[in-house]
Amino acid sequence: MNTTLARAMDKNTALVDEAIEKLLAPTPDLPETLRKAMRYSLFAGGKRLRPTLVLAAAETCGLTPRKALKTAAALEMIHTYSLIHDDLPAMDDDDLRRGKPTNHKVFGEAMAILAGDGLLTKAFEAAAENAAELKLNGVACAELVRLIAFGAGAEGMVGGQVADLAAEGATKKISKTAAARMLEAVHRRKTGALIIASLDAGALLAGASQTKREALRSYGECVGLAFQIADDVLDVVGDKKKLGKKGSDRDNDKLTYASLYGLDGARAKARALVEMAHAHLKAFGTRAAVLHELADYIIERDK
Ligand code: IPE
Ligand code: IPE
Ligand code: MG
Ligand code: MG
Ligand code: MG
Repeated sequence: MNTTLARAMDKNTALVDEAIEKLLAPTPDLPETLRKAMRYSLFAGGKRLRPTLVLAAAETCGLTPRKALKTAAALEMIHTYSLIHDDLPAMDDDDLRRGKPTNHKVFGEAMAILAGDGLLTKAFEAAAENAAELKLNGVACAELVRLIAFGAGAEGMVGGQVADLAAEGATKKISKTAAARMLEAVHRRKTGALIIASLDAGALLAGASQTKREALRSYGECVGLAFQIADDVLDVVGDKKKLGKKGSDRDNDKLTYASLYGLDGARAKARALVEMAHAHLKAFGTRAAVLHELADYIIERDK
């Protein structure tokens, strides 16, 4: 990672962490065990990519990033919930996440499910508060909630997770062409959709035009898919200590870019997508510097 990006990400992480702390402050009605379980996974050391995308998109479209912090925190909460549920025995059945035992290993399955539920719903509270504080008009407030729900939901991340489970063992049952189509549909939804929502949310908060929002969504399509391809490659070749997870794709017979195209084939596809991502930022000029750097980082990363 180059130093400009590293600095931006460190700064964002500190700001986002502060926002999350405030959103999860103790209250009489918030059960302490639930609060602990929610905070456990949130503060286990994620890369904070999605909040960084919210803030970078907001800045690219002319809004001071600090004004988008609650929405940035919201996207990280949704992402963290998706990881807690992804690791459950009924799903990928993983024991290690962000370098620590998975949520259900520490708090039990029931609390892990509820911590996920709590994070998902808290996220919408946070995004709605953000929209109100910025005095967005009613239509824009509704659109912010809608686009995040769409990215996270049945046609977005959740739908992608369903497709991911359905695709386990697919290469033995269907042709390579059919598997390729299935795989892209899995990755676009399970990972791409929330990345697109992060960018679009930042742009919307900044009052960006439809054209600008579309350009950022197209950029998100490319980096979102490239990000999951890199995740598939790292599942095979990554340093488990750095990644903070063990990699369970092989054990689960997952359909991945690495399993379908091989490591070099997968890397080449990710590179091509990143090239396309850069092209979608053209109209923003130098304002999109961080987004350009993020696109490269997404496939060069080692964790
Ligand atoms: C992991 O996401 C799951 C995917 C969607 C690929 P990240 O690689 O962003 O995980 P953290 O947030 O850094 O832990
Ligand atoms: C998970 O994909 C995507 C989510 C929506 C959580 P993976 O199952 O590949 O993520 P990791 O490798 O466990 O982080
Ligand atoms: Mg999974
Ligand atoms: Mg997993
Ligand atoms: Mg993975």
